[in-house]
Amino acid sequence: MPRSVESPRVVNIADLRLLARRRLPRVVFDYLDGGAEGEFTLRENCNAFEEVTFRPRHAVAVPKCELRTRVLGCDLSFPVVLAPVGYSRLMHPEGEVAAARAAGMAGTAYTLSTISGHRLEDVRSASSGPVFYQLYLMGGRAAAEAAIQRARSAGFSALVVTIDTLVAGMRERDFRNGMKELLGGNPLAKLPFLPQFLARPGWLAGFLLDGGVPRLPNVVIPGQGPLPLIDVGAALSSAAVTWEDLRWIREAWSGPIAIKGVLTTDDARRALDEGASAIVVSNHGGRQLDGVPASLRVLPEIVAAVNGRAEVLMDGGIRRGSDVVKAICLGARAVLIGRAYAFGLAAAGQVGVARSLEILRTDVERTLKLLGCASIDALDGSYVHVHKK
Ligand SMILES: Cc1cc2nc3c(=O)[nH]c(=O)nc-3n(C[C@H](O)[C@H](O)[C@H](O)COP(=O)(O)O)c2cc1C
Repeated sequence: MPRSVESPRVVNIADLRLLARRRLPRVVFDYLDGGAEGEFTLRENCNAFEEVTFRPRHAVAVPKCELRTRVLGCDLSFPVVLAPVGYSRLMHPEGEVAAARAAGMAGTAYTLSTISGHRLEDVRSASSGPVFYQLYLMGGRAAAEAAIQRARSAGFSALVVTIDTLVAGMRERDFRNGMKELLGGNPLAKLPFLPQFLARPGWLAGFLLDGGVPRLPNVVIPGQGPLPLIDVGAALSSAAVTWEDLRWIREAWSGPIAIKGVLTTDDARRALDEGASAIVVSNHGGRQLDGVPASLRVLPEIVAAVNGRAEVLMDGGIRRGSDVVKAICLGARAVLIGRAYAFGLAAAGQVGVARSLEILRTDVERTLKLLGCASIDALDGSYVHVHKK
């Protein structure tokens, strides 16, 4: 592992975030780091973990901890899955391929976003572990059906259908920094934002050598070819999935389906009715509707409503292994991480993602030992205390 991401330079995920900030132009860093509107939900996602404290069982010898689990029919070496992160190729030229490879080497799953710059077949073959495909309906139903067909032929293990994106959230930092202009085709419109690119020559060289703004090779409109990489707002406003769509999606995809973006017990029950194998309690990392609660806060009521009929996963705000353990104590089978690995990707490509996973994995193991708990499966609510706000 290169010294740039080794200890003591990088000890935690916050250190990777700082390296990412140093390497990326402001527009790309803020796209990754930021949230919607006043970023209340973004902050809450992390703050909620501080309201959960541990209740350890001391003087218990735990020489070895069992971290393995199963999610969506796949064996994972520890209960952390890489979430879909759109535009990853802007963060690093190897983008989704690097992240998938690092996930596979760590023995866990990677979820490929529809808004990805590398072909799904290349991403699948880069990883020795399971890969899931996250579906948006950009480009329309025919393009989505074609992607589902390709994902099945390539050997993807599950489909993750995101339901919280009827339109894009109002990400104020993206407007100020010129995200739309960066992705748009008008070179003159990019001019006012040029200084932030020139201030990051390493990133700029990689971006230009990679051919600049990529197309979306997994959104192929029949008769027209791959969709150009359009602005986030435009992309997401044409991406919405409704419950009605789930009927034909289920017919097109015979494997397991996870519904991502559930925040209420009503939506959880609806997802079960639609045949979901898993539910991801998620507010999209605070990037969609600002003012919704932290995922961790609604997790227990959704776990209770689902009552074992599907796997319950969660994401939002995971920055430490102790956060992973808290979410599992409150009923999650596993967690997804977005920024925690994407900071690593932006900082150093594949080795940065690998470092992020190594940090979280050793954190989880140490936390279990300090709790006096020998396995992930044995974690439950008795190991934590939730302080009500
Ligand atoms: C830069 C970025 C891009 C994202 N793109 C997608 C996407 O394309 N599809 C999707 O379902 N979720 C997307 N998400 C949401 C993540 O999958 C995940 O829900 C969120 O990042 C979890 O919060 P965390 O970053 O605090 O871990 C994105 C998140 C970030 C940070």
